[in-house]
Formats: sequence, structure tokens, C-alpha cells
Amino acid sequence: MQDTLILKGHILHTPSPTQLVAISHGYIVAVDGVVVYCGKTLPSSYEGLPVVDYGDQLIIPGFVDTHAHAPQYCNRGLGMDKELLPWLETYTFPEETKFNDPEYARLVYSAFVRDLWRHGTTRSILFGTIHKDSTVVLMKLLEEAGLSALVGKVNMDRNSPDFLIETTEQSLADTKAWLEASKSFGPLVKPIITPRFVPSCTSELMRGLGELAKEYDVPVQSHLSENYGEIEWVSALHPESDSYTDVYYEHQLMGQTPTVMAHCIHLSDEEMDRMEETQTMVSHCPYSNVNLSSGIAPIRKLLEHHIPVGLGSDISGGHAVSMAKVLMEAIGLSKMKWVEVDNQYAPLTLREAFYLATKGGGTFFGKVGSFEEGYELDALIIDDTSMFDANERSLEERLERWIYIGDDRHIMKRYVAGRLVEEPK
Ligand code: GUN
Ligand code: FE
Repeated sequence: MQDTLILKGHILHTPSPTQLVAISHGYIVAVDGVVVYCGKTLPSSYEGLPVVDYGDQLIIPGFVDTHAHAPQYCNRGLGMDKELLPWLETYTFPEETKFNDPEYARLVYSAFVRDLWRHGTTRSILFGTIHKDSTVVLMKLLEEAGLSALVGKVNMDRNSPDFLIETTEQSLADTKAWLEASKSFGPLVKPIITPRFVPSCTSELMRGLGELAKEYDVPVQSHLSENYGEIEWVSALHPESDSYTDVYYEHQLMGQTPTVMAHCIHLSDEEMDRMEETQTMVSHCPYSNVNLSSGIAPIRKLLEHHIPVGLGSDISGGHAVSMAKVLMEAIGLSKMKWVEVDNQYAPLTLREAFYLATKGGGTFFGKVGSFEEGYELDALIIDDTSMFDANERSLEERLERWIYIGDDRHIMKRYVAGRLVEEPK
């Protein structure tokens, strides 16, 4: 039997970075979770069916977080005094080692999943830790919550502390076991191969992970070109490769299956060519890049290079789970790049940043992040009436105001693939 859902309200979505569709008191019709109509009047074939009328509230696509570390959730808002490499050693690795205990994992991951729900992040691409059982705990919690995610068991077999390292053999065997365990999950939660970054993975491990990605046909995520010290370290570890990007490429970890790389701040033009050729997505994480003094990613230049871009919270390099706040920061940082560094690349507009936080990242999941026909219906219902304003505003202005001064308390409902998702227990 076909399941038809009809939503009515003030609809806002961005089919392209420059196009914002705003429909006052419009209708979205979804059949079996997929949008079949979005427009001003209800087609006659759906007349008489129940309509969920959200009145004067806004209906926007659910947010997509293309890069977050679930086990770093308790560290958010801490450790802002260091750059990447000492930050990892001092704050991050000691916290991640605790996930050797699946009970600790359950405690933290439950709170993290609830926070994703609260902030309207309907899709996310997540790092777990090296621990396979705890990673399965995270996947189960996401599935129970009705949220969609790609989740990775992290791999680390070199240059890592004794308390958070695997042998190459163990890393590959555990990854295979976890990929097998992942087969029991439904369509919303899937695995993603996750070498932490080049410095923490030997060539043998990277090659093995490339083979597993192909064998199981799963995507790949990692970090790329985040910090100057990191980049120098990679070139010392891999003198045989022309660039950091090419280390992944040469180990079949870029473009063989869909790939997303966090940061990509300091790429050369040749590396951008490789990213374009392989259609590797950049996960731009503006809060993290500020907090860890990593730099300002050249987002306009990457977009002009036809490289797909999404946005990431990068919890806990970034401190905010809210993708509304992340997209606001992406705009702000692009303004600083434009005025301080290179005035040839214009700042991001609200529309562009909203696109990146929805359909931009959503493309990694297929047809996600927009209300166009054929797209999975992920939606948020926003009630902005408590944010006082004595003036009449357009729908786009209301969206802009909510992004800048609103928060999760204004998100009244969340839908994922056409299903209303209640607060996780
Ligand atoms: N590079 C390697 N590991 C990490 C991490 O946990 N966070 C960030 N921001 N960069 C990394
Ligand atoms: Fe990260």
C-alpha cells in the first residue's frame, strides 16, 4: 500500500545555490517518503486526503552534517587553546579511548543522537572510534531514533598513542567484522570506511581499506589538508606522492567509491583538479577551522572548480551541533576571506550557505536536501513567532532571522524520509 503524506505551510528550499524557492501556504506531497509534488495548490488527485496544516510555520529541508565525531561530544566547547596535532594528543585521543567500553559509548552516543534530533540534523556523516562494538552501538541508536547516517569505525595503526592504536591486521579484521555487522541495519543507517587521516594509517592499512571499500561497495571519509603542520608531516611520511590528496588517491581511497574529505583548506590547484576529477565532496567545517586556527577554506574557489561541497559541525573541533549556526559561520568566514585575503572570491550568500547545509551535503545520500520531485522528504517545521518583530517580513527574511537568532526551541517537528521522528528516548 502506498503511504501518502501531505504537508502545508510556508515552504522554503534551494534547488540550486542561487535559487531559493519560497511558497506561501504551499503543499508538499510525498508518496512512500519521496516528494511527488511541491507547489502552491494541491493537485486535484490528492483532494480529500488528510493534510497536515502547519499554518504560518516554515517548512524547510532537514539539515545535513557531513562531518562530526560522535565520541568527541563531551569535549565540545573545550580545548580551544591548541592547533590540530597537540589538540588531538591532549584532548581528543584520551576521550576517544573511553569508547573501548560500550556502556560509556551508549551513555555519550544517546545524548549525541538526541542533540542531532533536537537541532534538526536529519542526516549525518559520522566518525566513531577504532572500537567496532561501540560503533555498532552508535548505529543502533541512530536507527532507533529514525535518523539517517553514514557511520565509520575509525582506523589508526601508526603515530597514535599506545592506548588508542590497532595493529594493521586487527584494524582490517575488525573493519571487516563491522562491515558484516552493518548489513543488519535498514536503509537509513549505513557504514562508511574511515581512515582517521594519513598520519595515523600505514600504506598497508590504507590499501586494505581501499579494497574493503570496493568489496563492500561503501563510501569513504577522512580528513585532508586541515593544518600546515599536518600537511608537512604527510609530505615527510609520503615523499613518493605529489600531494596529500594523491596519497589517498594512490591508495584507492578517493573516488573509487563516493568520498568525502573534511576541511580541504590548503589545497593546491592540482589537488583541486584531482578532487574535481574524482568528484570528492569537501566537508567545510567553519567553526572547527576557527577554533583550531586551521585557516579559511576557499569555498567559492572550490565551488567554481565544480567540487561538491557540504557543511560539517566537526564536533568537537567545532563546538556547535546546530547546522543553522554552522551555515551562519560559513557565511561569516567567507566574508573574512574576501575582505582580508582575496577580494576576487565573493562571500557566500545566505542562499548559497543554506544550499550547502541541505542539498549540498544531501547529494552524498542521493536525492536528499530539497523538496524537488524525486527527493526523499526530510523536513523541519519552524515556528518563529516567538522571535519578536514589529515588521512584515518575506519568507526568505524569516528564514535568515531564524538562522541568525533562532535555535532548536523553534523546531517543532522533524521528518526523515517522510516519517515524523519523535524525540529519542
Ligand atoms: N584529523 C585527524 N583526526 C581529527 C579529528 O578528530 N578532528 C579534526 N578536526 N581533525 C582531525
Ligand atoms: Fe574531524
